[in-house]
Amino acid sequence: MNLDILIQKCESTGALSRDEILYALNLDSKTDIARLIGAADAVRKANCGDDVQIRALVEISNTCARQCLYCGIRAPNTHIHRYRMPPDEIVELAKELDQKGLRTIVMQSGEDPYYTAEMVADIIGKIKRDTQMAVTLCFGERPESDYRLWKQAGADRYLLRHEAANRELYKALHPDSDYGQRMHCLHILRRLGYQVGAGCMIGAPGQGVEHLADDIEYFRDFQPDMAGIGPYIPHPDTPFADHPTGTVEMTLKMVALTRIVTRNALLPATTAIGSIEERGREMALEAGADVVMPNYTPLKYRVHYEIYPNKRCITEDPAHCDSCMRLRI
Ligand code: 5AD
Ligand code: FES
Repeated sequence: MNLDILIQKCESTGALSRDEILYALNLDSKTDIARLIGAADAVRKANCGDDVQIRALVEISNTCARQCLYCGIRAPNTHIHRYRMPPDEIVELAKELDQKGLRTIVMQSGEDPYYTAEMVADIIGKIKRDTQMAVTLCFGERPESDYRLWKQAGADRYLLRHEAANRELYKALHPDSDYGQRMHCLHILRRLGYQVGAGCMIGAPGQGVEHLADDIEYFRDFQPDMAGIGPYIPHPDTPFADHPTGTVEMTLKMVALTRIVTRNALLPATTAIGSIEERGREMALEAGADVVMPNYTPLKYRVHYEIYPNKRCITEDPAHCDSCMRLRI
């Protein structure tokens, strides 16, 4: 394969074949990788412009019913303090964020059945009534009826990382979950009219370059509205504690290829890449990403939302995060 022709195709249509995706993922010289990243940056500029979108992240609960083998807030982990933000506190925080000029609130939680469909619909309804903000939900797998109720209450977007497009890898990472069900949820969300976000970790235990090609093919074929991509980071209180961290280089190649195959999707420069490399988020923004998600979870809760250790911005107060983020951009 010829790199010049591949780069041209990345910039013109992005309709890459599996062989081309694999070739790009296997690039290893710094100059070749820089060309791939440059192509993604050009595609980002042409399709999304130069604005960086800001999304206010609020982690409303770290309580989770699931056992994903990599995740620090998995149900069997007894070493963490579990919290739940009361609904009124969430709505009040949303109003503050709205006054600060934030345009989107992303409410994220472990899979926590404590928040009934009606409770969440009530929170969404109040935020929609009292603020101008778009509402993004990230509450994991729920019944179709919950997703429908929340859409009717005014929710705009839903993030549900697909985690692994490869069925066997999905199973190996999630012993208590079902691949078909995950994919089904993503399709239902789209059918209900949500803007849908997918995504995956890079360097997850057992993941090889063929699996990453499956993920890029998935982004190419499903065309999610958003895609969250960050490195795997081992958490000491999980069964995968001894597995190595994903690399910055492979994460950037994946961000670049996702930009290239989706053209205009919203791609966050994730906290995870910022956590393994000081300039990680800036590098992602230069490799096709166009969104940042500063963390506005109140400090007393935030320290407990530890899906992986040494998470970025765990102790900074929100005002500091806000100015730091603007400076970085
Ligand atoms: N390292 C990196 N990312 C993780 N996630 C969960 N655990 C880890 C980890 N140890 C990601 C998953 C999940 C998202 C909220 O965070 O992809 O969907
Ligand atoms: Fe909570 Fe995976 S551990 S959804």
